[in-house]
Amino acid sequence: MIIAVGSDHAGYEAPEPLYKPSIISYLESLGHVVIDCGTSGTESVDYPDFADAVCEAILNGRADCGVLICGTGIGIGMAANRHRGIRAATCTTTEMVRLARAHNDANILAVGRRILPLNQCFELISLFLSTPFEGGERHSRRIGKMG
Ligand code: RB5
Repeated sequence: MIIAVGSDHAGYEAPEPLYKPSIISYLESLGHVVIDCGTSGTESVDYPDFADAVCEAILNGRADCGVLICGTGIGIGMAANRHRGIRAATCTTTEMVRLARAHNDANILAVGRRILPLNQCFELISLFLSTPFEGGERHSRRIGKMG
């Protein structure tokens, strides 16, 4: 898959391992192609700018889905959900991820650097990428109502 990845400066927060580069390496180790939508360092930036870049990559067909990182995963997920056609899910558990894919057909997973250990982010990302949308009239109708 082609996966757009974006974060604000929280994705580069010490201590190491730094989340954004580690998540990119993890995705590449699974055989995916990553589009790096920034940011690329510790300088303070605004998370909506990086959410917008990831959403654009998905909406114009350059990426299949996205992963977003900020301090909590909340702000960057909120910003992404301003885009019609984007369904970003900020998740902290495997059950949230499973249902975000199976029922909501989420096309972005947002995670929080200050909330989850890196290994748990990897686990959530792997599940996000391997869980199919369940489909069916009920879920499709609800998703359709979101535009
Ligand atoms: C940046 O310090 C922080 O506010 C941001 O990464 C995020 O947690 C917002 O939701």
